[in-house]
Amino acid sequence: MILITGATGFIGHSVTQRLRQTQQEWLAYDGRINNPQHLRKALEGIHTVIHLVGSEARGRTRLLQHVDVEGTERLIEESRRAQVQRLIIVSRIGADPNSLHPLLRTKGEVERAVRQSGIPYTIIRAATLFGRGDRFTELIFGLALWSWPLVWLPDGGQLAMQPLWIEDLARCIAAAVTRDDLLDKTITLAGEERLHYRDIVQILLQTTGVRRFPLKMPLVLLRPLTALIFSWWYWPAVSSFFADRFFVPEVAELDSILHYFGFRPARFVDNVAYLNRPGLRWRLFRH
Ligand SMILES: NC(=O)c1ccc[n+]([C@@H]2O[C@H](COP(=O)([O-])OP(=O)(O)OC[C@H]3O[C@@H](n4cnc5c(N)ncnc54)[C@H](OP(=O)(O)O)[C@@H]3O)[C@@H](O)[C@H]2O)c1
Repeated sequence: MILITGATGFIGHSVTQRLRQTQQEWLAYDGRINNPQHLRKALEGIHTVIHLVGSEARGRTRLLQHVDVEGTERLIEESRRAQVQRLIIVSRIGADPNSLHPLLRTKGEVERAVRQSGIPYTIIRAATLFGRGDRFTELIFGLALWSWPLVWLPDGGQLAMQPLWIEDLARCIAAAVTRDDLLDKTITLAGEERLHYRDIVQILLQTTGVRRFPLKMPLVLLRPLTALIFSWWYWPAVSSFFADRFFVPEVAELDSILHYFGFRPARFVDNVAYLNRPGLRWRLFRH
């Protein structure tokens, strides 16, 4: 039996759908991740845990420590007690306990705890994901709507990325459940196109038919401007974690998905039409 933590989140939603399609049995963990009693009860009879709880969407460094690091430590403790046989977690490209960036540092600490847990694990370091309801394309689109008639390109939009389609990641996670060759491994998964941030913005504007003039923003201004704007405008997803991304390229092998899972991931340009769904512009504009 599989237990999924964070099943209601962006990745969790796609993973549960995928497991339904492949007719794998699973349960959703419905308590707080730091609650040992609730964890103990939920882990009874569980073979595999897919751990998708994370607090990065809240945009608060304090929560990263409490939910991501301490929550994972609590889960590990209770999983050991329940003799869980496999732990699958989703980390980020660039995870490093010594990183200067809080999100990547947290992810590095979580990975370290999992590696030292003694429980067979698979750590999936994923690129930034795109798909309906993401905090990437919808965020960039929302910012472009707000910044009429301009669209900002930090560092001229030079940042290199390989966005990965959420459903492709979900397919990989579901497959990892039965892949013994991936046990005790850390694998990096990303899309197979290396795009610059400016290309991503252009594709989003073209897909949605929105016109904006690109304005280059020197990197040195990015943090002070983000801090200034978001000191009075609370939009958790556009936190300092979003700004941090522009300082760390997010690239991996171009054939990572093909290499580990034998299929080719979806192309970015072909899969962003969800931005045209009714009501989205109004919802993004109201933020
Ligand atoms: N999205 C990406 O592009 C991406 C890329 C690489 C790695 N990741 C990592 O993958 C993981 C999941 O990401 P996501 O995009 O699916 O995040 P998400 O949409 O924000 O979902 C987070 C999930 O965690 C749950 N949660 C948060 N705090 C909790 C707590 N204290 N106790 C129990 N549950 C809690 C949320 O449930 P409630 O809302 O009910 O609290 C939600 O189900 C995170 O660790 C993230 O860092 C994400």
